[in-house]
Amino acid sequence: MFNLVLFGPPGSGKGTQSENIISKFGLLHVSTGDLLRAEKKAETPLGLEAKRFMDNGELVPDEVVIGMISSKIDANPDAKGFIFDGFPRTVAQAEALDKLLSFKNNPINLVVSLQVKEEELIKRLLERGKESGRVDDNEEVITKRIKVYHRETSPVAEFYKEQEKLVTVEGIGSITDIFDAISSKIEFSLA
Ligand code: AP5
Ligand code: MG
Repeated sequence: MFNLVLFGPPGSGKGTQSENIISKFGLLHVSTGDLLRAEKKAETPLGLEAKRFMDNGELVPDEVVIGMISSKIDANPDAKGFIFDGFPRTVAQAEALDKLLSFKNNPINLVVSLQVKEEELIKRLLERGKESGRVDDNEEVITKRIKVYHRETSPVAEFYKEQEKLVTVEGIGSITDIFDAISSKIEFSLA
């Protein structure tokens, strides 16, 4: 089993690169953002609760997302591995993920951190907002999401650095070049 965390600020290309990684390495995609948006769309109690946070660019409470991840892992016992996109986003989530995976004796193998400067993030998300229908892709909420990233999510990189699992990849340039750089990190880790 190979478990990967794709880490990076909003708009750094986690979703975009996940698609490529899935088709090349056969991992199962777990995006808490996508899962939450599906709950929101279906107007489930969880989705309605999450909406209050998501639409303002705040993080949904840890216990909600950890519960979702736990069910997703349990529901896929035969997966070759998972690619976690947008999760973990707090140190508490990272600790909970380690615990969930340790029950299965399949820890996180690698954390790829995409490096993209702030002005590029804002540019990409504003551009996407023109047609994505994502209510959080507007200037005010984008700024908030980036602030929340620095405050609550960036310490997660340190958490994995201490475990010697963190590698960084330049996230600006062509999608293919970035994918090639990520692929070599994965292949090196698999070897
Ligand atoms: P989530 O859905 O995870 O959104 P995000 O982290 O804010 O990031 P994005 O999905 O916007 O960006 P991305 O890095 O995937 O980039 P993408 O590939 O799309 O979270 C949304 C909300 O849900 C959170 O705010 C929170 O409320 C909640 N939530 C989710 N997970 C949570 C958790 N674990 N705990 C608590 N709350 C949680 O690319 C962005 C754009 O750039 C696209 O248009 C793309 O086409 C373009 N692009 C990509 N690569 C390039 C490139 N190389 N050059 C030019 N453009 C590019
Ligand atoms: Mg995404």
